[in-house]
Amino acid sequence: MSDPKRVAILISGGGSNMLALVRDMGPDHPARPVLVAANDPAAGGLARAAGLGIATAAVDHRPFGKDRAAFEAALSARLEAARPDIICLAGFMRILTPGFISRWEGRMLNIHPSLLPKYRGLHTHARAIEAGDAEHGCSVHEVTAELDGGPVLGQARVPVLPGDTPDDLAARVLEKEHLLYPAVLRRFATGDRRPIRL
Ligand code: GAR
Repeated sequence: MSDPKRVAILISGGGSNMLALVRDMGPDHPARPVLVAANDPAAGGLARAAGLGIATAAVDHRPFGKDRAAFEAALSARLEAARPDIICLAGFMRILTPGFISRWEGRMLNIHPSLLPKYRGLHTHARAIEAGDAEHGCSVHEVTAELDGGPVLGQARVPVLPGDTPDDLAARVLEKEHLLYPAVLRRFATGDRRPIRL
């Protein structure tokens, strides 16, 4: 078997998707986690990753103000040092510049809480309820310069139930995210880009 692919995971919050990915990357897996990085030093996922013995980095975006490129240069320095083959965005809530994206294009994945191409951007659960959708879900896609617009590598569906609040629906989708993202990464790490449907 070839060397496992090196995976860096970018988070902004609790990191439940990060944990699902890390837990799946056991000895039989074609990839392994080499870094968990966050744009918020208080992101709960950093401590959870450190607790699992994974290297972590915090690059606070706030001192950089509106200078996204400068923030990304600082983030890139930490990323490059970890020599990742694949970057997984897992609840990473900063918009990335085309310059950063092109550096990693074809090797960067994101999970988004909607059935893309529906509901790019924020507040996806509320928007699905408002629209009266019978189904909602999540997508893992390759990251391209178009926001939430790259090729879809997997989707999982859930029903929207009568009386659902956005939080109810988010919780139902999140359970599926934790199945979908590891399943896609497992395939992607072997070079297989065929979409997965759950
Ligand atoms: C997840 O639901 C993820 O799909 C979403 O943020 C949450 C992060 O949760 N991502 C986006 O909205 C990206 N636009 P987690 O930190 O527990 O994985």
